Amino acid sequence: MNILDLLKTDHNKVKEIISTLCETSNTAIKTQLKLFNTLKEELELHEKIEEIIFYPALKKHQETKDLVLEAFEEHHVIDLILEELEKTEPKEENWKPKLTVLKENLEHHIKEEENDLFPKTKKVLDQTTLNEMGEKMLLMKKDKQSSPAL
Ligand SMILES: [Fe+2]
Ligand SMILES: [Fe+2]
Repeated sequence: MNILDLLKTDHNKVKEIISTLCETSNTAIKTQLKLFNTLKEELELHEKIEEIIFYPALKKHQETKDLVLEAFEEHHVIDLILEELEKTEPKEENWKPKLTVLKENLEHHIKEEENDLFPKTKKVLDQTTLNEMGEKMLLMKKDKQSSPAL
């Protein structure tokens, strides 16, 4: 399966989770925390998959190198906001604004990947390579499911 399709499916899932989380009332703290934990898990695995399987191959090509270097930095910023959110209680006044900033950063990053990086990827990597990467991605997801402690 083509890794670009799998990554897009992940993107849609993550966008949906964060939108629901942003709309969840501050009185539903349990739901907020549950959604936040799901979001964090999904994002961490998605970033890991891209950083191990996808980005290194694109860093080797001049057409995609700069976009990938920027993507690594955007992951880093997303991780920092996630870390801060984890240390903040949903009832605190800066929790929702932090979440909104995370949402904006995520949407920007996803848009750049889907609109700039993925079309260029199709020019530098062939279908077979993209399919092999997709298989590796599915294996990483399966591994994660069978060992949730990792
Ligand atoms: Fe990414
Ligand atoms: Fe992504």
